[in-house]
Amino acid sequence: MARVLVINSSPSAEGSVSRRLSAALVARYKGKATGITYRDVGLEPPAHLDAETIEAFYTPADALSVAQLQKTLLSDQLITELEAADVIIIGSPMHNFTIASGLKTYFDQVARVGRTFQYSPETGPVGMLAGKKVYVLSSRGGNYSSRSPYAGLNHEATYLKTVLGFIGLTDITFIAAEDIKSGNDGVNTALALIESLEI
Ligand SMILES: Cc1cc2nc3c(=O)[nH]c(=O)nc-3n(C[C@H](O)[C@H](O)[C@H](O)COP(=O)(O)O)c2cc1C
Repeated sequence: MARVLVINSSPSAEGSVSRRLSAALVARYKGKATGITYRDVGLEPPAHLDAETIEAFYTPADALSVAQLQKTLLSDQLITELEAADVIIIGSPMHNFTIASGLKTYFDQVARVGRTFQYSPETGPVGMLAGKKVYVLSSRGGNYSSRSPYAGLNHEATYLKTVLGFIGLTDITFIAAEDIKSGNDGVNTALALIESLEI
């Protein structure tokens, strides 16, 4: 039985395609999940990093002031959710060729030295969140599939692969509803792929 974390990042509560896809995958986990936690970074975007928070991230835990502890509270909570999950489902609308800004501030809060990655000059960065399954369910107005001339402009999937790998999340399945503005069948194609997943 898996503990599932669902991270939705569309700013739209209604009519969101990426939310529809993540809900379809959550439905596949019915009876197979011990618990489902929802984190909505579209409707409630995490705070932008400020100088004090960044300084607190690089301060040893036993040397943090009360003010610094307050600055790291959100990051701590988000990282605890990630650590607790066996399966992470990310709903990701493409915005201006990359991820939505709420998902970006989320990664700024959770990509944290000593918590989700370690670094040494010998090894370089090493991710610390191992052994979890990630699904990225994207929605895009255009078509950025490998056969499309616009494939090189898809900085959403490439960014997600990089940042997730950076914190140790390397087992990623990407499913995208492409071309949804054209009236083509991108949503149904993505939903069919979700139904065909071996859970
Ligand atoms: C601010 C904004 C920027 C967007 N930028 C792109 C883009 O760069 N490429 C694209 O194909 N579609 C783009 N779209 C279309 C969305 O990717 C598409 O509407 C998608 O369904 C959004 O996901 P959602 O329905 O879950 O919110 C953009 C939409 C918005 C609102």
